[in-house]
Amino acid sequence: METSTLKVVTFLLFSSWVLWIINTHFQRWRERRTLIARHVCRTPPTPAKSDPFGLVDMRESTAAYHSKTLLQRTCEQYDQYGKTWTSRFMTQRVIHTIEPENIKAVLSTNFYDYGVGWRRKHAFRPLLGGSLFQIDGHAWAKSRAVIQPAFTRARITDVGAWEGIVESFLERVMDASSDKRTVDLAPYFFKLATDLASSFIRGKSTIDSEDSEKKEENDFLTAMKYAGGGCEKRWQLGMFTFLFPMKDFYRQVATVHGYMEKQVDDVLAVQDAEDFGKRRDFLASLTERTKDRKVLRDEACMLFVAAADTTGCLLTNLFFLLGRYEEVWKKLREEAAAFGKEKPTAQDLKKLKYHVNCIREALRVLPILPSNSREAYKDTVLPVGGGPDGNSPVFVPAGSVVSFSIMAMQRRKDLWGDDAEEFRPERWDNVQPGTNWAYIPFMQGPRICLGNELAMLEVTYIVVKMVQRFERLDRVDKDPWIEEVSIGTTSANGVKAMLVPDETYSVGA
Ligand code: HEM
Repeated sequence: METSTLKVVTFLLFSSWVLWIINTHFQRWRERRTLIARHVCRTPPTPAKSDPFGLVDMRESTAAYHSKTLLQRTCEQYDQYGKTWTSRFMTQRVIHTIEPENIKAVLSTNFYDYGVGWRRKHAFRPLLGGSLFQIDGHAWAKSRAVIQPAFTRARITDVGAWEGIVESFLERVMDASSDKRTVDLAPYFFKLATDLASSFIRGKSTIDSEDSEKKEENDFLTAMKYAGGGCEKRWQLGMFTFLFPMKDFYRQVATVHGYMEKQVDDVLAVQDAEDFGKRRDFLASLTERTKDRKVLRDEACMLFVAAADTTGCLLTNLFFLLGRYEEVWKKLREEAAAFGKEKPTAQDLKKLKYHVNCIREALRVLPILPSNSREAYKDTVLPVGGGPDGNSPVFVPAGSVVSFSIMAMQRRKDLWGDDAEEFRPERWDNVQPGTNWAYIPFMQGPRICLGNELAMLEVTYIVVKMVQRFERLDRVDKDPWIEEVSIGTTSANGVKAMLVPDETYSVGA
């Protein structure tokens, strides 16, 4: 081909490409204009205009994280800017909202317009791979359908499976708190939650492990803690994760994976055994659906992260609050006493209204996941938050993030009353959480926490056992609750308390 012809062809190809780009952008602009006009969308306030890439905000929130005031800062931002406002994080637009109607749109009505977003996928991928927590759309729906059967009623209501673990926890706490010694309950709660999660995933807890297994288990727990914290840090850093020293993080992730692969291999090795079908643990039941080692490993890691830390955080926060309210402890004891010392069934536990109210209320004032977000995968609309009065719909362009503070929403005075910041279990006497989009400790909609019923039952059972065994729980440190934000959020100072045993209680009665 002659040089001049080549030049013409190149020019034509280049011009067509430019025209194609212009046309695509124009079409998109027109579609967006139509969507905005149809819904009469208006923009919410953008308070920090002088911070176009969100770098100042990032620096300030990192400082707040280190000074343990991140949640307070978030609540103050909503007080100052309103219930819906926008900011930027690098190239992404972020819409912050605490409007229940908007949360409903994101988590339910327009569920498939959103996904968990690149930031979460990028942060947790080394540890959780392509597990349920990390995926969206049809892949997520398929994966959830595979995992859900492992959460059948028979498995999650198997109170007998927790008995030995909880008894062993109580013995350790009794020992540590004897002679009126002050004890920090938090490490005991986290160990208990870990044992319960282990037992759910593998059918056995650390308590009945052999010594060599215990060492492996301890190494795994240490590595998991480090790797989980590392993922959280990666999330905060977003696209700047390369600033985080990775070598140690990946070493710990490898330890976690090595341990879980061994668990998977142990299960796969006995899958042809006659009584295998009777096993109720998560891993065994998941092998009925898939034998893929990596899938099994990633889902087991995901479940461990989802179950252990969250339940430990909830127990710590709940008992932190219970230690402050003597009369609440008394009422719990009355309710547990009326139901007797027989072994409770899941049905019995669900009927303990005051116990359930206390747990719900702890999850309201101190939610374990105090904030969450979703990324819009296509142009969409939030029902409210736009305009000066905040009543107009808001246009959400594809690629932007809708971020919601669960803590700020669950403490809104206009929704929960003037005592919204107070722990008052009685407020649940006439409220049903399932219908209330202003209360989402387990989220809501199709992606609601798979373990919510299990967590509520386990924690109710533990409260029953604690109030039966101890006449009083006197909190020793009177400081206010201080946040410790990691994958779950809990009390930085634990629960330092003096426990007064009930002398009339006889074990095994
Ligand atoms: C107090 C305890 C717990 C709290 C507060 C809690 C909270 C949550 C929240 C807020 C989510 C939604 C995350 C998101 O989509 O962005 C979630 C998801 C999930 N949780 Fe929980 N959780 C708890 C305990 C558990 C337990 C005990 C298990 C399992 C044994 C569990 C299994 C899961 C799973 C598998 C998901 C992913 C669901 C999906 O993406 O489809 N959770 N949890």
